[in-house]
Amino acid sequence: MLIKRPQDIATSEITQESVFHSRRKFVKSLGLAAGAPLLASSLRANVPNVDEELTPESIVTSYNNFYEFGMDKGDPARYAHALTTDPWSVLVTGEAAKTGRFAYEDVIKGLQQEERIYRFRCVEAWSMVVPWYGIPMKQLLEQFAPNGNAKYVEFTTLYRPSEMRGQGSVFTGIDWPYVEGLRMDEAYHPLTLMVTGVYGKSLPNQNGAPWRMIVPWKYGFKGAKSVVKIRFMRRQPKNTWNILAPREYGFYANVNPAVSHPRWSQASERRLPSTLFNPNRRPTLPFNGYAEQVASLYAGMDLTRHF
Ligand code: MTE
Repeated sequence: MLIKRPQDIATSEITQESVFHSRRKFVKSLGLAAGAPLLASSLRANVPNVDEELTPESIVTSYNNFYEFGMDKGDPARYAHALTTDPWSVLVTGEAAKTGRFAYEDVIKGLQQEERIYRFRCVEAWSMVVPWYGIPMKQLLEQFAPNGNAKYVEFTTLYRPSEMRGQGSVFTGIDWPYVEGLRMDEAYHPLTLMVTGVYGKSLPNQNGAPWRMIVPWKYGFKGAKSVVKIRFMRRQPKNTWNILAPREYGFYANVNPAVSHPRWSQASERRLPSTLFNPNRRPTLPFNGYAEQVASLYAGMDLTRHF
C-alpha cells in the first residue's frame, strides 16, 4: 500500500499541489469566488501540522463512524451516496445578532480554507493522521455575531431518514438527530475547524459532507458530521453520546490516557492501518498531542470528573 508521509509532501507540494491544484474543485464545489483566500496551515506558525505518516485516503474514506448510515465501519461508504448535499443550508439560532437560515454557499463565501494535518483519535481507541481542509471555526461563527450570553455552541446533524437508512433503525438507540456542542472558547480555538474537504478533495458523504466539525484534541465523536443547525447557548448543550451513555461519554471528551473508558483503557491506541500481526499500537498522548496548545483551556478543572 502506498503511504504518503507528510515529509514526502514538500511544503511546495502542499501549497501548490494539494491546495492550489484542488482549488478549482473547491471554488466550484464551495461556491468560492475566484481569488478567495485558500492557505496551507504550514504557512501559519500558530497551527502545527503533524509530522507523522498519513493514514491512507482509502482507509480515511472507508472506515467510518456515521451511524445515520449504519453501525458497521463500512456502512457509511456503502450507503452515504444516497445523501443529497446540494442544496444545503444552515439554521442559526440563539444568542447571536445574525440568526436565520443561510445558504451554505453564502456562509462560506470568501472565508479562508486551510489544510491541516491532524491526529484523529476515536474514543474506541483507534487513530489516524488525516489531511483535512476547512474553515477555522472562529471565522465561521463570528459571521453570526454571537452576543455576550453565548457561552456554548451546539451543532446539529441532518435528520433525513429517507436518505439516511440508519435513522430508521432501532439498533443504535440514538435519538436523532445527532447533536454535539463546544464551549465558545473551544470553538474559537485556532485548532478547531469546520472541515469541508479531505486529501485535497471535497468531503465525501461518508466523512460528513458538505461540512463537519473537527476538534483534534477531543475524541472523534465530538466531530458532528453534515451540520444543519448552529445554536449559540447560555447553558451547556447536550451531546448524543452523553445522552446515550452518560457514564461512558462526557461533554468534554478530551483525549486523556489517564482516564479509562469504563470498558477499556485509553492508555494506548491502534494507529490505522492496524492488523492482528501488526497492531501498530502506540501510547495515547494527553489532549491527543495538542496539550501545549489547549491544556490552558482546562486550567483548574478536574478532568477525571469532566471527562
Ligand atoms: N457525526 C454524525 N452525524 N453521526 C455519527 O455517527 N460519529 C462520530 C463522528 N461524527 C458520528 C458523527 C464518531 S464516533 C467518530 S469517531 C467520527 O465521526 C468519525 O469520523 P470519520 O468517519 O470521518 O473518521
